[in-house]
Amino acid sequence: MSDDHDHHDGDEHELRVSKIRSGTVIDHVRGGQALNVLAILGIDGSEGEEVSVGMNVPSDRLARKDIVKVEGRELSQDEVDVLSLIAPDATINIVRDYEVIEKHRVEPPEIVEGVLSCPNAGCITTSGEPVDSRFEVLEDGVRCDYCGTIVRDEIAALIDT
Ligand code: CTP
Ligand code: ZN
Repeated sequence: MSDDHDHHDGDEHELRVSKIRSGTVIDHVRGGQALNVLAILGIDGSEGEEVSVGMNVPSDRLARKDIVKVEGRELSQDEVDVLSLIAPDATINIVRDYEVIEKHRVEPPEIVEGVLSCPNAGCITTSGEPVDSRFEVLEDGVRCDYCGTIVRDEIAALIDT
């Protein structure tokens, strides 16, 4: 919460990305994952979306981190669940009136349902049947509960938009 703590994260003299008034800061995102965070949140630069992104900024906890600040928005549990798959060290900070009023680490769920789509064209979940996707979360990826397909590195590409 204190400004002096911010100094550990980088520049001695100024914040690299300005503070937000009210909304959500997704901090300690693995370097290189910010664009995937935007994809998960469905942020595409439409009018009315006020978003700041820092990429590969210095961090005390990670070598380099990405950070995404979304004004005027809180995240759903589904969104946080999927974020945890690509940004396992992320913290979600809820800001109101410029203050962080809530901070929590993301936690990978055991199962994600209805938010990722199976890359296997022969899977029942992609065949037009009314079956919701269902993936088991592994240490290093996800596995389709219906066909067993395992995806490790390209999880962000499975996000239903
Ligand atoms: N933040 C922001 N706008 C605010 C308040 C905070 O953008 N009005 C950002 C800070 O810049 C920081 C993150 O939200 O990136 C978390 O804020 P804070 O808890 O104050 O920082 P730290 O104590 O450094 O967080 P942590 O211990 O999680 O690293
Ligand atoms: Zn499948």
